[in-house]
Amino acid sequence: MNSIQLLAAAFVLGLVGLTSGQLVSPGICQNFPVHVNFDVPRYLGLWYEIRRYEQVFQRGGECVTAEYSLNDDGSVRVFNSMLVPPGQVRQSDVGRAVVAFPDESPLEAKLNVTFDATATDISANYWVLGTDYDSYAVVWGCFGVGTTLRAESAWILSRTPTLTPQAEAEVQRYVDLYLSEDDLRPTVQNLDFCCTIDPEVTAYPQCPTQ
Ligand SMILES: *[C@@H]1O[C@H](CO)[C@@H](O)[C@H](O)[C@H]1NC(C)=O
Repeated sequence: MNSIQLLAAAFVLGLVGLTSGQLVSPGICQNFPVHVNFDVPRYLGLWYEIRRYEQVFQRGGECVTAEYSLNDDGSVRVFNSMLVPPGQVRQSDVGRAVVAFPDESPLEAKLNVTFDATATDISANYWVLGTDYDSYAVVWGCFGVGTTLRAESAWILSRTPTLTPQAEAEVQRYVDLYLSEDDLRPTVQNLDFCCTIDPEVTAYPQCPTQ
């Protein structure tokens, strides 16, 4: 890029940064292969976030969990929750996801997710690049910014607060192929740190009473 393009990119980045804050780079969104024969019921339930591309809506968030369940209309209820230190209270967001191309066979693990609790309707694509349902999931999303830039999101999810070495190895294959390792920031999932004082939170142990 020349300096004018860099300036333009910085400007667009600034604008994008207000609403998203994903990993922004030149180029159009990649068409990565996704997990197929997607089994939505097996994907439901609790996931712990292990690493992510930093997001404005998640800035500084630790002890992040995502919980997926079925809505009455067959869509997926997305319940994201995190702790932003030094705060002690978990923050959460509820979204709704639908399979992007429900008539495709085999069914691709592509979801469209919307969060409308925020001032602006945020709609994003959520592609599961790989999962074994029982231990790990590698999730990626991307949208175009103007005609020359893209903004990517990525999340490494685990059924348990830490990945087993086997799951870690599986995840690494996807990271090497499709993600930018240096931009994946680790999420704290230390149980002493993530303990909760909220009896409704079941993903973490209750903090010892002083
Ligand atoms: C999901 O989003 C894509 C565009 O990214 C669109 O083509 C598709 O129709 C959407 N699917 C549903 C079920 O809304």
